[in-house]
Amino acid sequence: MTGACLSHLGHRVRCIDKDKDRAKELASGRIPFYEPGLENLVSRGVGSGRLSFAGPEGLRRLAQDAEVIFIAVGTPQGEEGSADLSSVAAVARSIGRALAQNSVEHPEEAPRRALGRERPLIVVNKSTVPVGSADYVSMLIREGIDAEASAEDEHEAAAESFVVASNPEFLREGSALYDSLFPDRIVVGSASREAIDTLRALYEPIIEQSFSTELDPRPKAAVPFVTTDLVSAEMIKYAANAFLATKISFINEIANLCELVGANVGEVAYGIGLDGRIGPRFLSAGIGWGGSCFPKDVAALQAVAREYELETPLLEATVSVNERRRKQVILKLQRELHTLKDKRIALLGLSFKPNTDDLREAPSLKIAELLEALGARVVGYDPVAAKKAASKSPPGSMTVVYDPYEALREAHAVVIVTEWEEFRDLDLERMASLMHKPPLLVDGRNALDPEEVRTAGIRYAGFGRG
Ligand code: UDX
Repeated sequence: MTGACLSHLGHRVRCIDKDKDRAKELASGRIPFYEPGLENLVSRGVGSGRLSFAGPEGLRRLAQDAEVIFIAVGTPQGEEGSADLSSVAAVARSIGRALAQNSVEHPEEAPRRALGRERPLIVVNKSTVPVGSADYVSMLIREGIDAEASAEDEHEAAAESFVVASNPEFLREGSALYDSLFPDRIVVGSASREAIDTLRALYEPIIEQSFSTELDPRPKAAVPFVTTDLVSAEMIKYAANAFLATKISFINEIANLCELVGANVGEVAYGIGLDGRIGPRFLSAGIGWGGSCFPKDVAALQAVAREYELETPLLEATVSVNERRRKQVILKLQRELHTLKDKRIALLGLSFKPNTDDLREAPSLKIAELLEALGARVVGYDPVAAKKAASKSPPGSMTVVYDPYEALREAHAVVIVTEWEEFRDLDLERMASLMHKPPLLVDGRNALDPEEVRTAGIRYAGFGRG
């Protein structure tokens, strides 16, 4: 996404993947995951000649020519919640080696021009890395250089051949293109003035909102460019995700109380969200947060705190409130259906949120697991993630189908797990006629109108809706 967007802004971008075949696929415009608008943007970038892809061999040339290299590899959850930095480490070392090899090609220039470069290479951490990782990345680049550099003066030149910056990513899956072009802010952390100035120039079309867009009116007039030290930039990323996860867990806790006192959490969220200090977004109650970021980033922040023997009770509560949301689906089903053994339960929406095929930490998988443990027969449907979910489901577990009404046939209950737009347009009468009688709908995202569902003869259970 970063590469495609930067090329859209007019920059020349070369994306390197360690997998040569994947780079080829990308060059032909095929994206290995679902993200609305990305395929089109990549094709346009490649067509314009500004966006290209290469396998690992392309790095050496980049270390010579590029002004900026973004490290944008995955940092999955590793042991005890901390982020697994092995991919970041491998890339950083490769950048170091590439810088040094480059100077070997031009031995006469190397000492004078910092490993063959006119100006230091700006290495930017785009991947979400734990606080303090920029130093680690610098160290690994140095290690790469030292492993490759042959002459003493090359080792000396190494320190001047690159600088490190942190530029955390705040985009959401499913709306990544919009978030990239119209972000709430751009954050850059670095000790190098040159790095900050270069990145400011790189992002200028976004900061000034001067690139052309079909959106009318333009959603943003200008974008704040926030510069900080490296560690604060890294912290901003984690604190933002942890705060958003906490905000969701907060409204979910309020939803529990709303259910007991007969209040409507949607109206409560609207009422508190109008307070400028609170804000309306990320106050949708339901079965809680999942995905590739919130769970791992909250865990990583806790892991950092543990290293300093700092307790984080608020983060612990954020996580445990969220874990309980999945179980509440089961409780709601049990309340109406009593035993779940041999009951057919349809799950609508398997990805962790709409407009993505990402199943990482998807609530659907946990709910299916809990239901199966109770002997229920689970059938799942998703508009884009069905195939992926089918390949993940072990034999004998959730059956994945490719039509929502197929999932509903003879189902004792249906759970809306992910609020895909198409579920709002489901034919409720048809749904009722297909399901086992009396049908039950558990609306995990408060996505449907309870009255409309009830009018169709389906019992309705939402979250925090009185
Ligand atoms: C998140 C951050 O929003 C983004 O800034 C960061 O770069 C990556 O992590 P993402 O995980 O793609 O983005 O999706 P997001 O829209 O934030 O949703 C995360 C989870 O929270 C989803 O499971 C979603 O269903 C849930 N959610 C979101 C709620 O339960 N309620 C809400 O009000 C909002």
